[in-house]
Amino acid sequence: MPTYPERPISGQRIVITGATNGIGKEMARALARRGAALTLVARNETKARDTVTELAAEPGVVTAPEYVVADLAELSSIRSAAAEITARYPVIDTLLNNAGIHSFSAGVTADGYEVMAGTNHLGPFLLTHLLLDRVIASGTARIVVTASEAHRSAARLDLDTFADPVPHGAIGSEPIYGRSKLLNILFTEELARRLDGTGVTVNCFCPGIVASGLVRGSRLLTGTARAASRTPLVRTPRQGAEMGIRLVLDESLGTTSGEFFTSTPGLRFLPAVSARRDGALRQRLFDRSAELVGAH
Ligand SMILES: NC(=O)c1ccc[n+]([C@@H]2O[C@H](COP(=O)([O-])OP(=O)(O)OC[C@H]3O[C@@H](n4cnc5c(N)ncnc54)[C@H](OP(=O)(O)O)[C@@H]3O)[C@@H](O)[C@H]2O)c1
Repeated sequence: MPTYPERPISGQRIVITGATNGIGKEMARALARRGAALTLVARNETKARDTVTELAAEPGVVTAPEYVVADLAELSSIRSAAAEITARYPVIDTLLNNAGIHSFSAGVTADGYEVMAGTNHLGPFLLTHLLLDRVIASGTARIVVTASEAHRSAARLDLDTFADPVPHGAIGSEPIYGRSKLLNILFTEELARRLDGTGVTVNCFCPGIVASGLVRGSRLLTGTARAASRTPLVRTPRQGAEMGIRLVLDESLGTTSGEFFTSTPGLRFLPAVSARRDGALRQRLFDRSAELVGAH
């Protein structure tokens, strides 16, 4: 049971990425049950349809969820989806940038960027940029980003090269994934600063270690996560979703912005990594990301 005062969200438009699986699906379920009008941004239309059917059957649903197809690893696909979303909805009350991947082998997006930087950061950056007018139109909107404590193991952040393809194997994937999650946090902090005074808050969170589809690229890790999910070490997707749901619902967080919330007790006492203390770096990252996705 939540231990915070919940604000009503019935009828509010919530756009969420990555709701066809794992943590995102559980956040979507909880919000649909409270009567929110959901729009799922999904890359797989069959999964999107199945998820809409599943969520529409939840108790408390007022409006059946809708979906828009977009591959966050393809900028043109994001542009089309954003055009569809802005045509459909004059106002977006909450944007949940949750979709993400951990790729255990090297890869690139359709636009030639390193696949985790592209999918986890540049894609959501462009989507947010294109939907921002509708979000600001809400007057009191929230943007929530699913980041990770894995940002602490990030590879060095060089603004000239962070999106360049890089060869790596399974072990070498960790710092690249971690860097993409650091980008989520720096984006959250900088966007919050830029949106100060608009009524829009931006926060991010780590869901903890969750047995989801994230490690599906590794049979070893999938088996380990499945076994560990029977222990208190690893959470179910529903447990992993709790902090994200709170960031949408908690009435007392109405003016909190630019924060990283961790779900793992004790970790909030760890000092912030040095990149998070560098305001100039955050600003330059934001401008560089805008340049890479062609956002003006
Ligand atoms: N699991 C963990 O332990 C953990 C820990 C910290 C942070 N996180 C973060 O939590 C978020 C959700 O991950 P999860 O654990 O729930 O993983 P998941 O079960 O694999 O779900 C990921 C979701 O993102 C979608 N997605 C992936 N690539 C996409 C793309 N190119 N375009 C559009 N959608 C795409 C997936 O779509 P499909 O259904 O089509 O695959 C799926 O809906 C991620 O940002 C992840 O980094 C997870």
